[in-house]
Amino acid sequence: MMDLKLSGKTALVLGASRGLGLASAIELGREGANVMIASSNGGHHAHALAQLREAGVTNAHAITVDVRRPDDASHALADTVAQFGSLDILVNNAGGPPFGSFDTFDDAAWQEAFELSFLSIARFTRLALPHLRRSGEGRVINIVSFSVRHAMQGSILSTSMRLGVVGLAKLLSREANGNGITVNNVAPGLILTDRIRESSLKQKLADGRSEQQGLAELAAEVPLRRLGRPEELGALVAFLASPRASYINGATIQVDGGLGTGIL
Ligand SMILES: NC(=O)c1ccc[n+]([C@@H]2O[C@H](COP(=O)([O-])OP(=O)(O)OC[C@H]3O[C@@H](n4cnc5c(N)ncnc54)[C@H](OP(=O)(O)O)[C@@H]3O)[C@@H](O)[C@H]2O)c1
Repeated sequence: MMDLKLSGKTALVLGASRGLGLASAIELGREGANVMIASSNGGHHAHALAQLREAGVTNAHAITVDVRRPDDASHALADTVAQFGSLDILVNNAGGPPFGSFDTFDDAAWQEAFELSFLSIARFTRLALPHLRRSGEGRVINIVSFSVRHAMQGSILSTSMRLGVVGLAKLLSREANGNGITVNNVAPGLILTDRIRESSLKQKLADGRSEQQGLAELAAEVPLRRLGRPEELGALVAFLASPRASYINGATIQVDGGLGTGIL
């Protein structure tokens, strides 16, 4: 059995009331980390904490955080350290920008995408760094999208911001300066969450497919012939967060069943 040695570590997982964020929090917690989950709608937290408990994670708390708001970022970090005494792992995540073609997005849409999917990550990471340096084994893990290596139609807002995050992570990973911090990105493909239900699947339903047909058609696009399960991404997040992944730095790793067609 591989012991990820996360006991005593503390993780702040953003966008974690459901979907990939919650799955990451569950895997981190199951491996022994203290987990602070954060999301913008506090009404979702009781259910999320219940799912964590069901999975055997008891060392979890929740805070209401809109990742776009600077004050929320400072409070989230302060509350996490006040609750658990340290911060070792930051998982940057939130819902993504809307899908559509270039000419449907005005300046306001670009600004919103920038604040949600890029600026929030730059800000949280900057504010977390002093804590991560103290950790000695600090981790920054950004959840981006397989579209950073695969031209996905309609994802222009998302892809533009995610490529900025990949650039940020790569440059930041080179500033680690021997303090043990690693910075990596995890790139999901088609992993069945509310976001996929509300985007790719919704499009199939609008085209007249039943839910079952829509899901089957999406699965057929994936070389493994199935959609991903959130815990399959959470497992990679937990591994990257662990001391076992201490020499993986500046990487972008896909969890997409082979969906992305990019060779690199
Ligand atoms: N699922 C996939 O296969 C897939 C593929 C490619 C990329 N991605 C990207 O991966 C990320 C996670 O995807 P997902 O499928 O888990 O999405 P999801 O099911 O829509 O979940 C999004 C999570 O983020 C929280 N959130 C939304 N806006 C927020 C904000 N402003 N501040 C803080 N939390 C916020 C939501 O909780 P509240 O409503 O409580 O705030 C929720 O917990 C997204 O960026 C998505 O674009 C996912």
